Amino acid sequence: MNIFQTLQDIENQVKEELPGLGSTAAVETLRLRLLGKKGELTALMKTLGSLTPEERPKVGAQINQVREWVTQRLDEAALAMQAREREESLRRETIDVTEPRDPLPVGSAHPITLVMNELVDCFTGLGFEVMEGPEVELDHYNFELMNLPKNHPARDAQDTFYMDDNIVLRTHTSPMQARAMLTRKPPIRIICPGRVYRADEVDATHSPVFHQMEGLVVDEHVSMANLRGTLEAFAKRLYGQDITTRFRPSFFPFTEPSAEVDLTCVACRGKGCRICKGTGWIEVLGSGMVNPKVLEMCGIDSNKYSGFAFGIGLERIAMQRYGIRDMRLLYEGDVRLLSQLR
Ligand code: PHE
Repeated sequence: MNIFQTLQDIENQVKEELPGLGSTAAVETLRLRLLGKKGELTALMKTLGSLTPEERPKVGAQINQVREWVTQRLDEAALAMQAREREESLRRETIDVTEPRDPLPVGSAHPITLVMNELVDCFTGLGFEVMEGPEVELDHYNFELMNLPKNHPARDAQDTFYMDDNIVLRTHTSPMQARAMLTRKPPIRIICPGRVYRADEVDATHSPVFHQMEGLVVDEHVSMANLRGTLEAFAKRLYGQDITTRFRPSFFPFTEPSAEVDLTCVACRGKGCRICKGTGWIEVLGSGMVNPKVLEMCGIDSNKYSGFAFGIGLERIAMQRYGIRDMRLLYEGDVRLLSQLR
């Protein structure tokens, strides 16, 4: 084998092949073929041992020279190729940040929250202050201070979930009112919105978990007229000037006298329709003058002070407002329903 011929041959291969190579990978394949462990130039180096000591340095220098030349050509080609490939991939993978995209889905508050916020707005506008409290409550606050002693039959209507004999899931937000009376001095004007619990079976109008907003006013000379005026203002603010209230006698252990309060049916504005069963009225809340016994138990002098209280069911208002006939829909979290109610 003629070493010089082979070197020439290698040079020619590089000159001929290199310009046609299309990728850095192809350049590396060529590099391996010529300079790799089993490459052609490497094989030539191995033949040096068989040469005479006079020939060896000359031929060795010649091989090295070609090897350097090849290495340089390949490095240049690889670099140029890399730059081109980078540019190409940049062009290919460019992201057009100005391209319009699908609008992001926007959530909204739950209908119960919407109603609660609206009522809070309404009553804070009338001078009430919001007070919130624990959902896990002492029997003492939830029942005893509300004039519902242990084993009293009136507890049946508010059967609940007991943690133990003394700790219950609150059945109304009235315990917050007891807490307010025990810690504050009149005048007291608070509303207590929140989640409450009762051992009720689930159906279209009942749920073991629901929401209320109760209100309490305690001051000197508070009368039933103030209760009525407050609820009238609330009804008109919520539904319009033509809506009015109707009081019907009722019973609650914590109020005396007590009244169920109806509002003019919002659907027919009092004319009578399917929703109000032709009466023109919708039952919306319970209310009454705070039982003097409750005032006394909560440390308030019932000779000097009197008060009124009311409790509004938020589910009922939401159902009327949005025309929902089954309460369960409010808890299922179905976006198809929720996205309609904003
Ligand atoms: N606490 C009563 C209930 O949850 C509602 C109510 C509050 C009634 C205040 C009268 C006065 O059923």
